[in-house]
Amino acid sequence: MIEISARVNALPGYPLAEIPSLKRKLLEAGTDVIDLGAGDNDTPPPSIAVAAMTEALSDPAYSKYGFQQGLPAFREAASQWVERRFGKRFDPATEILPLIGSKDGLAHLPFAVVNPGDVTIVPEPGYQAYLGGSLLAGAEPYIAPLLREHDFLLELDRIPETVLRRAKLAFLNYPNNPTAAVASAEYLERTVAVCRRHGILLAYDNAYCDLTYDGYRAPSVFEIAGATDVALEFFSLSKSFSMTGWRLGFVVGRADLISALTQVKSYVDTGPFLAVQKAGAAVLDRAEEVVAPIREELKRRRDAAVTALRRAGFTLESPKAAMYVWVALPAGIPSAAFARRALEETGALVLPGSAFGPAGEGYFRIALTVGSDRLQEAAARLGAVLEATRRGELATTA
Ligand SMILES: Cc1ncc(COP(=O)(O)O)c(C=O)c1O
Repeated sequence: MIEISARVNALPGYPLAEIPSLKRKLLEAGTDVIDLGAGDNDTPPPSIAVAAMTEALSDPAYSKYGFQQGLPAFREAASQWVERRFGKRFDPATEILPLIGSKDGLAHLPFAVVNPGDVTIVPEPGYQAYLGGSLLAGAEPYIAPLLREHDFLLELDRIPETVLRRAKLAFLNYPNNPTAAVASAEYLERTVAVCRRHGILLAYDNAYCDLTYDGYRAPSVFEIAGATDVALEFFSLSKSFSMTGWRLGFVVGRADLISALTQVKSYVDTGPFLAVQKAGAAVLDRAEEVVAPIREELKRRRDAAVTALRRAGFTLESPKAAMYVWVALPAGIPSAAFARRALEETGALVLPGSAFGPAGEGYFRIALTVGSDRLQEAAARLGAVLEATRRGELATTA
């Protein structure tokens, strides 16, 4: 009898794992599915990425192992982008590491900096790779609920001192998935101060830094004095540039920490495909111009979704950043039951807040992955489900 490891058994079901097969079944049955599940825009990848990739594919040098060093031009482009965007210079050779999507780095980081039994601080609701990476590395995740009354900010100094003393790593993500909350410089300052006081590494996940609206600008944690001592920052090309499937991101920070993560990854992968890195370099070199139309389209979608959801009877705030709308459900309606009914009866695919952990209960998330018309249609369907549920047509048990 082959046993599955306790670590794997400790993993909760991955929230998006079931969705593709469920969706396929509904499509086969002729349902008009509006998929607002995964944060995966329907906008095409940038043409400069496609051109650079196409060129690289006919050069055999790009078909070789990239190893962790990868393509020097990608490291250089990443370093220059960080400097242009945040005013901080990081050495491309030692303070940047290409990742197979930022998920790769986030999930593998605990292996580099945490010993079995150490605590990692994991926000909930949150991106599930933080929890999975922590559990697989044998860490003890401390689940920090993100609460509306604290603007969905993870306040480290509210965590018991006994936990902070055992904590080695804290994950933080603003602009936030799924709540779309944003962090101010003052918030980052007090967070960095707690990390410095307790020797906690801050893994700052800035995957949505360029998807911001209404004049809001997302900071880098490295804009805070002293952050380089205690933080690594993760960036992704997935969301800003509609390149989710290309699997490319990078992490920036102190050379010894980057080197530890490089060692871990040397044993589990051989780096992103070099042709993808060439495309990534081309995009980063022209990032501002490439992201602008994607950001504008997402803003249009956000406005359409927020207006339509309010009209449909939901109460929600208009997000300043990221590509999600986090919608509160009336008390007593379990999010999983609501999302299941929305999908099965109307074809509107949204993620229940409970998929992001129990602290996400009471909400559902829509991703702004389709055009305004379809978002409006989805909002109307969700409103109809809300109405029917309120009339008591849904048992209020999950
Ligand atoms: C908060 C957050 N971080 C990281 C990622 C991973 O992005 P990727 O691995 O595509 O770079 C995602 C993807 O949804 C995310 O929502």
